[in-house]
Amino acid sequence: MNETNAAPVKRVALITGASSGMGREFARRLVALGECDELWLVARRREPMEELGRELGVPARVVCADLASAEGLAALKNELAEATPALSWVISAAGFGVFGRFDEVSDEDVFKMIDLNVKGAVAVTRMAIPYISRGGHIVELGSGSVFCPLPNFNIYASSKAFILHYSRALREEVKHLGITCTVFCPGWVDTAFFSVADKEGDDVHKPPMEKRKPLLKADRCVRGAVRAALRGKALYTTNWYTKLEHLLSKLLPAPLLIAGWKSMQNKK
Ligand SMILES: NC(=O)c1ccc[n+]([C@@H]2O[C@H](COP(=O)([O-])OP(=O)(O)OC[C@H]3O[C@@H](n4cnc5c(N)ncnc54)[C@H](OP(=O)(O)O)[C@@H]3O)[C@@H](O)[C@H]2O)c1
Repeated sequence: MNETNAAPVKRVALITGASSGMGREFARRLVALGECDELWLVARRREPMEELGRELGVPARVVCADLASAEGLAALKNELAEATPALSWVISAAGFGVFGRFDEVSDEDVFKMIDLNVKGAVAVTRMAIPYISRGGHIVELGSGSVFCPLPNFNIYASSKAFILHYSRALREEVKHLGITCTVFCPGWVDTAFFSVADKEGDDVHKPPMEKRKPLLKADRCVRGAVRAALRGKALYTTNWYTKLEHLLSKLLPAPLLIAGWKSMQNKK
């Protein structure tokens, strides 16, 4: 077959956390922009991902995998090795957080947050990079919480602070491959995140819902993140308070930042 008759290479977007929230919005946005011809949707729940594939009308491979587990990561790695897709986007959106003081959050949740938000995210990029084409994009989900140590949201914020540094350094490491890496740090976004985050712990150790409002719209946040990635930005924050947190984190010592965070929490 000569070059003109060769089938065009399919551009594949691999999205973790695709069964819900921002992961799902990334799939919608990338398809709407014509940024991919095929989706790889990764999370634990099959049904919402199959529904998303049907909604978007592009070929969608659903990979049900618990990315906090070695088996789940191995399953995804094997599928990549078998299919050798030409990845144009890798979005690492699988993640969760739990509010609560150290003695209120279960061991299981503490170590699962680290396994998923840190180890899972690193593993996904490590296994995906060999398949990302020149001109491709990596987006890592950080959070507004990356800018300050957060008592009573400690493990989550610390796991996302790792992602901030990891992404910024990875960006330099993949530059020579023609791949960009953007860390996306949204404020409070209206997703299923809070149904998990609020499940444990005493309410006095949580920022009350009214102080998290107005929650940002997931589709708008994702739209901005995709734009930033296409422009090759290193970091994208969504709104004024996250931008302010970013700025203050450069100007103020940690105890002052922590005092600001604690003032958001309920007191006895
Ligand atoms: N919402 C916010 O205010 C906010 C703010 C800043 C950053 N973030 C970050 O944004 C990302 C997306 O969260 P979201 O707000 O869209 O929340 P979400 O709607 O709860 O989505 C979380 C996604 O992660 C997947 N997931 C959870 N545990 C998993 C596991 N063990 N293995 C594989 N997938 C898993 C979930 O799918 P399954 O349950 O089907 O596995 C779901 O698709 C997360 O990294 C979160 O930390 C959220």
